[in-house]
Amino acid sequence: MKTPDPVPFHRADIGEEEIASVVETLQSGWLTSGPRVREFEAAFAAYIGVEHAVALNSATAALHLALEALGVRSGDEVIVPTMTFAASAEVVTYLGARPVLVDCDPDALTIRASDVEPAITPRTKAIMPVHYGGYACDMDGILELASARGIPVVDDAAHALPTTYRGRRVGTMGAMTAFSFYATKTLTTGEGGMLTTADARYADRVRLMSLHGISRAAWNRYTAEGSWKYDILEPGYKYNLTDVAAALGVVQLRRVEQMRDRRRCVAQAYDRAFADLPEVILPARSSDVDHAWHLYPIRLRHDMLRIGRDAAIEELKARGIGTSVHFIPLHMHPYYRSIFGYAPDEFPNASAAFTSLISLPIYPGMTHDAINRVIHEVSDIVIKGRK
Ligand SMILES: Cc1ncc(COP(=O)(O)O)c(C=O)c1O
Repeated sequence: MKTPDPVPFHRADIGEEEIASVVETLQSGWLTSGPRVREFEAAFAAYIGVEHAVALNSATAALHLALEALGVRSGDEVIVPTMTFAASAEVVTYLGARPVLVDCDPDALTIRASDVEPAITPRTKAIMPVHYGGYACDMDGILELASARGIPVVDDAAHALPTTYRGRRVGTMGAMTAFSFYATKTLTTGEGGMLTTADARYADRVRLMSLHGISRAAWNRYTAEGSWKYDILEPGYKYNLTDVAAALGVVQLRRVEQMRDRRRCVAQAYDRAFADLPEVILPARSSDVDHAWHLYPIRLRHDMLRIGRDAAIEELKARGIGTSVHFIPLHMHPYYRSIFGYAPDEFPNASAAFTSLISLPIYPGMTHDAINRVIHEVSDIVIKGRK
């Protein structure tokens, strides 16, 4: 019997239209930030329903420049969930400030106002909710707490396109929001990111700092209408998105809801199949949140199973199923332990979730066969691993 094809953890959904768009840009003679980036920014802002969108080469860059625009500097603190990726907290340290880690809701694995409040000090300069897996944080609670204290909110929405919370699109709520277009994300440009904001001053500052702090971008200097003159106003960074990447982005954005609908179908198939397995905890959901379904993280109930999470991942790998773990909480990593003194068991909800989390494959191009194989292998491993 033929061995079935492996099911990768992720596969980007790139079609003929994306390919044609990139080729057109390559043939245009203009490769770096120019007309395609402007087109992508305008389309993104219109889609989110926000005044300004600034294209950047990663969400990490967007988070860094958001905090820079807020004036975060040495001696300041920024509140960041421990249940997140390296990027969310490292950008705080770029500016010499301290990431103050907080625990999360035990079900949704997102931060709540009640996690944030005890961590606020006079030095808190920003709060960074992470919309874990594409599921929105309880933003009303966080925004209310933040505005009462006059603290800006910078959303890490690397997973959350398109996500809505109580009818509001993620990207319109915090002072600034960072999106990621990394290869595995719900919209990809290979590498890339976008910062959205309703505030022109933040948008202007981010734009300036994204390209060496110089007064005119190359597009304004090297084209017929442009001038060679420029001023360096600040020591900025090199964070601009290329037109080649934006050519991918404009097409992906047109398909973003169609791709989400297909991910949602995968999630629904998993939901139905695993509903009968009490040993498996499914991702949180709520009528408040229209989910982007970037991730489908399940948790194994160790009290009901003989097989551990690591062994289950190895077994899935041996059966050709790609998985991942989101995330190893930041407080468990050597850097955060040694520099900031966090202990491995410090944040009980994140620490407990970590030991049981497995992210299953979920992507728009998943075939019925691939979905059924994941369901079959997960169910088989769980049933055989019962206590
Ligand atoms: C929660 C979170 N924030 C930020 C990032 C960084 O995104 P990028 O790779 O676009 O810099 C990631 C990347 O995976 C992420 O998962």
